[in-house]
Amino acid sequence: MMPNQQDTSGIKRFAVIGNPVAHSKSPQIHAAFARQTGIQLRYDLLPAPIEAFESIVERFFAEGGSGLNVTVPFKERAWVMAQGGLTDRARVAGAINTLWWGGSRLHGCNTDGVGLLADLQRLDIVVHGQDVLLVGAGGAARGACAPLLEAGCTRLHIVNRTAARAIELHRHIARELPHFSSRLSSGDLSQAKGRWPIVINATSSGISQAAPDLPGLQYAPGALAYDMFYAPHDTVFMQAAKAAGADRVADGLGMLVGQAAAGFAIWHGVTPEIEPVLSILRAQLNQD
Ligand code: ATR
Repeated sequence: MMPNQQDTSGIKRFAVIGNPVAHSKSPQIHAAFARQTGIQLRYDLLPAPIEAFESIVERFFAEGGSGLNVTVPFKERAWVMAQGGLTDRARVAGAINTLWWGGSRLHGCNTDGVGLLADLQRLDIVVHGQDVLLVGAGGAARGACAPLLEAGCTRLHIVNRTAARAIELHRHIARELPHFSSRLSSGDLSQAKGRWPIVINATSSGISQAAPDLPGLQYAPGALAYDMFYAPHDTVFMQAAKAAGADRVADGLGMLVGQAAAGFAIWHGVTPEIEPVLSILRAQLNQD
């Protein structure tokens, strides 16, 4: 990695890198946080061909860039690049969404789970003392595990269409955080059966207007069904959850703003307010 050079404009440069990335709301969110906190910054979209991710990241920082958000499908590759400077949370997650340069090396953190927990708090959902069903075992699910366990859930049951991935994630988290291993379990989607107070959809099924098939899943009274995916209207998962008796449903727009706020705090040392930015995004989404 080349050393980071000073940006002559004096304005720090940030970007979100992904493929595709054109749809990303991150530039808008960070611009809103910047206005709110009086911080000057530039934040761009940075599309990357699949094979060129590492070289584009290296060039961005070599040319004086200060920080990158990383989105699909590069979060695991970014984790590999930041091996020398991972936060504990990032190390456990095995995937990162936030990169920055400091002390002559690349640093990485995963703020997805923090964003999720912030959103659950906003929704007045208490994770402590509750059993949580996490559906999915991809990058989105990986970031959520440690923060949910640290928030004090009594059980974290990971189910996935491909059972082997859920079991692998379960084993990985149990290895990394052995003191939580007795609270972890895993299986295929049929193992979702039971009565759950909190169900989190971390699958990417929403992209194809589908929801995971969860036979036998029941919602406890007052239960929350949370979809990390978001849409102008109830997502397919939220619709299915309501039909299955979930008293409360929420989509992942608040998590998106929450993960951005946590990244902003790392980069700028100031924690922005989530609510006003979330309100603007929600209003815009409803107009789409
Ligand atoms: P991400 O980074 O968004 O999590 P990913 O790593 O490709 O993306 O993981 C996608 C997740 O959504 C996986 O858990 C996937 O299940 P498999 O591991 O069996 O592929 C899950 N998924 C995607 N579409 C799904 C569907 N229609 N029903 C159930 N699970 C689905």
